Amino acid sequence: MIIYITGASSGLGLHTAQAMARHGHTVVAGARSFDGNGPSDDGIIRLPLDVTDPRSVEAFVRRAGEAAPGVDCVIHCAAFLMLGSCEETTVEEYARVLDTDFLGMVRVNQALLPIMRKQEHGKIVMFSSINGLLGIPFQSAYTAAKHAVEGYAECLQMETMDFGIQVCLVEPGDHRSGSDSYRKHTAGMGENSPYRVMFERGTGVIHRDETNGSDPDRLGEKLAAAVERKRMPFRVRIASADQHLAVFLHDLLPGFLNNRILHSYYLKVRRK
Ligand SMILES: NC(=O)c1ccc[n+]([C@@H]2O[C@H](COP(=O)([O-])OP(=O)(O)OC[C@H]3O[C@@H](n4cnc5c(N)ncnc54)[C@H](OP(=O)(O)O)[C@@H]3O)[C@@H](O)[C@H]2O)c1
Repeated sequence: MIIYITGASSGLGLHTAQAMARHGHTVVAGARSFDGNGPSDDGIIRLPLDVTDPRSVEAFVRRAGEAAPGVDCVIHCAAFLMLGSCEETTVEEYARVLDTDFLGMVRVNQALLPIMRKQEHGKIVMFSSINGLLGIPFQSAYTAAKHAVEGYAECLQMETMDFGIQVCLVEPGDHRSGSDSYRKHTAGMGENSPYRVMFERGTGVIHRDETNGSDPDRLGEKLAAAVERKRMPFRVRIASADQHLAVFLHDLLPGFLNNRILHSYYLKVRRK
């Protein structure tokens, strides 16, 4: 298969690209840090791509089409996290997260859908997250973007299935792969913030869970198996048992009780 992958310079995007290349697929990887000139000793074609810039998306699709014509699958990994309180995350910061994590997928899909429709096949794989299913404190911008991805994917699948296009949501739990440079703090989250103590506790839990998270190479392998199926599943959830349980309880319990449990897990300051 010819597979394009966005956000493939680090983290799960990189591990997914490497898994797809190991499986013998032709991989075209995009990220802002790729210059498109370097030699590739792992068989992956690396091209510059900024998913927030329509001209960059257009150039990526054109160059990818020249290097590997006839895209069979696109995997959207490009994203970043903005950590901060709902009160202190600015509207501009929300917009930046949504622009990359959600609208980035929309831009790339709009560039590829005419090709996939014409060839009457194509697989679109979008990285959501457990955060696409439930909220986690101090990740509201990211959570909103991943919830947007979840809703958008359902609409996209219904509209395109008659053209032979398949859509898949990947919902990872914590994996020990992401780079700290994509976990930014909002500018307003300073020393004097009224949320400071809770923020430090919450981000400490988030950091600990990611450091102890699942193996990113196993995710790459599971994804390769899913993409290679004639009919992809619509959802691929790759998470630890307790994260599966959190999603189950979120759907089962009254919202108030669920929020209390997650508050206690992330924010309760333990007093000696
Ligand atoms: N790691 C986890 O535990 C976890 C859990 C759930 C979901 N996820 C999801 O998995 C995906 C990968 O996350 P990660 O944490 O593993 O990786 P990461 O280390 O955070 O990497 C983010 C990637 O996105 C790229 N990127 C950021 N802005 C971009 C832009 N404007 N245009 C193009 N590329 C851009 C970065 O490359 P450049 O800077 O070179 O552009 C980088 O390759 C994300 O969608 C994330 O939401 C991860």
